[in-house]
Amino acid sequence: MKPVRKAVLPVAGLGTRVLPGSKTVPKELLNVVDRPILSYIVAEGRAAGIEHFVFVTGRGKNAIEDYFDHHIELEAQLQAKGKTALLAEIVGELPKPGEMSFVRQMQPHGLGHAVWCARDIVGDEPFAVMLPDMLMEGPVAPLKQAIDAQAKVGGNIIVVEPCPPGEAHKYGVVALDGAGGRLNKMTGMVEKPPKGTEPSNLFISGRYVLQPEIFAILADQERGAGNEIQLTDAMATLMKSQAFHALEYEGTTYDCGDKIGLLRANVAFALKRTDLGGDARAAVLDLLK
Ligand code: G1P
Repeated sequence: MKPVRKAVLPVAGLGTRVLPGSKTVPKELLNVVDRPILSYIVAEGRAAGIEHFVFVTGRGKNAIEDYFDHHIELEAQLQAKGKTALLAEIVGELPKPGEMSFVRQMQPHGLGHAVWCARDIVGDEPFAVMLPDMLMEGPVAPLKQAIDAQAKVGGNIIVVEPCPPGEAHKYGVVALDGAGGRLNKMTGMVEKPPKGTEPSNLFISGRYVLQPEIFAILADQERGAGNEIQLTDAMATLMKSQAFHALEYEGTTYDCGDKIGLLRANVAFALKRTDLGGDARAAVLDLLK
């Protein structure tokens, strides 16, 4: 079995739920405490053993590429002022030469189309998809949980989690072959099912491990929900010939493409910081008085 070495990060979305901030700053670069959402996502990928990140970008997203490059003036300034810890932090997360690729999705045709844009860079090997809106944390990096599950059962893995009541129609939803433990064989999936028709309350939450055969299916995939080329529809086709397992991962998800989700992430991550937690707690309690 080939190892999962590459991750595709679709970052072309316009971020309409967090406008106007996302008009000029890509939503993936909005801060959670003091670093962009993408910084956490890349750290999660590296903790899961990812060696190459493929960003599927679009117009107005050049700042993402710049974020993962040297900023010569800034680094010289920090060096001159003796701010060596901050400098080490900034330089420390830069990619190794060749660790990242950027490909443009030239038109917003949907998540399936975005993933398909990465086909030549991924090639003929299993790969991960990480939806960068979904900031996830757990005792083990959530993507690593998915990759470990894939090493156990093979095929394709979709990370899922229970949805708050009445919300499942907004997501991709999976159907399971009975439920025993956190890793279960799937029998179906549907993107944005009409209210009341959801096959379960488990929604597709933003980490996938997929086999490269998905690309040939995506090439001819017809438009589905929202008139977009949906990854879920292509996966449903692939499920006719390959196994899919749903993994209920251990951890917490923050939907940072949403105003309240982004706020929750900021508060939660600030409270956990050893250097800021005390002050963050005092500030939150003060606001609640
Ligand atoms: C996408 C996926 C959907 C998934 C969701 C998670 O939908 O198509 O299956 O549940 O992300 O956020 P979108 O948010 O692009 O509508």
